[in-house]
Amino acid sequence: MNQDNSPKRDALPVSVVVMAAGKGTRMKSERPKVLHRIAGRAMLSHVLATVEQLADAHALQKVVVVTGHGAEAVETHLSGSPLQAQHLLEFARQMPQLGTGHAVQQAVPHLPDSGVVVILNGDVPLIQADTVQALIQASAGQNLALLTVQLADPTGYGRIVRKCAGESNDERQGAVQAIVEHKDATPEQRAIQEIYTGIMAAPAQWLKRAVSLLKNNNSQGEFYLTDIVAMAVAEGLPVVGQLTTDEVQVAGVNSPVQLAELERAFQQRQARRFMEAGVRMADPARFDVRGDLQCASDVEIDVNCVFEGQVRLGHRVRIGANCFIANVQIADDAVIHPFTHIDGEKPGVVVGEGALIGPFARLRPGAVLGAEVHIGNFVEVKNSTMAKGSKANHLAYLGDATVGERVNYGAGSITANYDGANKHRTVIEADVHVGSNSVLVAPLTLGAGGTVGAGSVVSKDTPPGALTVTRARQTSLADWSRPVKASKDKPKN
Ligand code: UD1
Ligand code: MG
Repeated sequence: MNQDNSPKRDALPVSVVVMAAGKGTRMKSERPKVLHRIAGRAMLSHVLATVEQLADAHALQKVVVVTGHGAEAVETHLSGSPLQAQHLLEFARQMPQLGTGHAVQQAVPHLPDSGVVVILNGDVPLIQADTVQALIQASAGQNLALLTVQLADPTGYGRIVRKCAGESNDERQGAVQAIVEHKDATPEQRAIQEIYTGIMAAPAQWLKRAVSLLKNNNSQGEFYLTDIVAMAVAEGLPVVGQLTTDEVQVAGVNSPVQLAELERAFQQRQARRFMEAGVRMADPARFDVRGDLQCASDVEIDVNCVFEGQVRLGHRVRIGANCFIANVQIADDAVIHPFTHIDGEKPGVVVGEGALIGPFARLRPGAVLGAEVHIGNFVEVKNSTMAKGSKANHLAYLGDATVGERVNYGAGSITANYDGANKHRTVIEADVHVGSNSVLVAPLTLGAGGTVGAGSVVSKDTPPGALTVTRARQTSLADWSRPVKASKDKPKN
């Protein structure tokens, strides 16, 4: 939120260019690179979420996303995003893609002349708002500020060339002179471990002029944005190299291997944050949140659990090993046993206080379970409410059902809720016992306190308190004998 003590109108106005036109050849994928996901969310969406946070401290003037490869898919993906709703988002198509300088040239007509322009990359997804803010401060609308990092292996990156030649990588203090791309670098320059992260902040007006002067006379025949550094030095515009030590924030993704590495780094960071907030985890390396997880106190999570969408866990909730848990509110003291699958994607799932779910349970959209409900192995619940203390412990299906309190739903029973055209409701009133292997043909109401005999197919409403049995009466034939195999000794005829 915009803080009262730092009103936006006094802060430096900021525009952002997100470069997202590159092909991403090494991903070997049909999908545009910036739409590949970290923690279930497109890399580009991570970047734009960070940009949205910048609006808390700065007057955000414009966000220009440069698209090229897969432009339509990328633009469609961002339609309806908060920045677009605020009319801050614009797209600049770059066809063909002639380099990062050329990319920014396409954005120039969209950019205002005032304030600072921040350049971000759609394939550097984990950059954080405070890091970008520090870079904006370093630029202050007057300097060219470059975000840099020291890498053990700087191969492939643009090297930060500073004034005192031959200095060690340990004390790189001299003024920045230029960025030299790996392919254009001398052996001495290649020894430099400080590299350009691809993220910079520059005075808007100066940047717009500088990129118009770029040439492509280099080993790749591309317009390098990084050539503006030498221009700034030549013109006397101060260049600030801002060194970060957090490699994860500035890591770019070019291949499935790097994507997976960054996914893991991101998940480990999330896991650490949850543990610091008191969540107990069997193994933070086997924990994945792809959405928004909120945990109350004393939550315990076993190995290999995946959380998606909006998940709320109450006090003392325990999640067993190998669970997939999406879009659900789980109340205090509930226990989710191993291998449970919960997917409450519209409408959500609710699990009541002290409920016991699983192992091997499946809760689908609209499953709303009251306190102390028990759902056991191989039980599926969809679009059904179950009131306090009801139980379905084995091999059962409840679809489009309204279940009262203390109902016992027998092993192997199902609601036949679909007639081939329409779905119908089954109402099971309080204290009903449904015997094993029953089929409840909806629409149907089972009256309170009634019992359904095992193996019944119930297609008419049942009165309260009664026993309903629909299977044939059992008979035994005393004088019946089982057929006997013909003996080998006997003649065949
Ligand atoms: C760039 C920098 C390099 C830096 C590195 C950090 C240049 C010339 N070099 O190199 O100094 O160390 O990033 O990762 O800028 N893009 C476009 N249009 C284009 C080309 C690229 O939109 O025509 C986008 C890409 O989608 C990507 C970003 O720009 O998001 C960077 O492009 P990339 O080709 O990865 O640049 P590098 O060669 O890695
Ligand atoms: Mg790159």
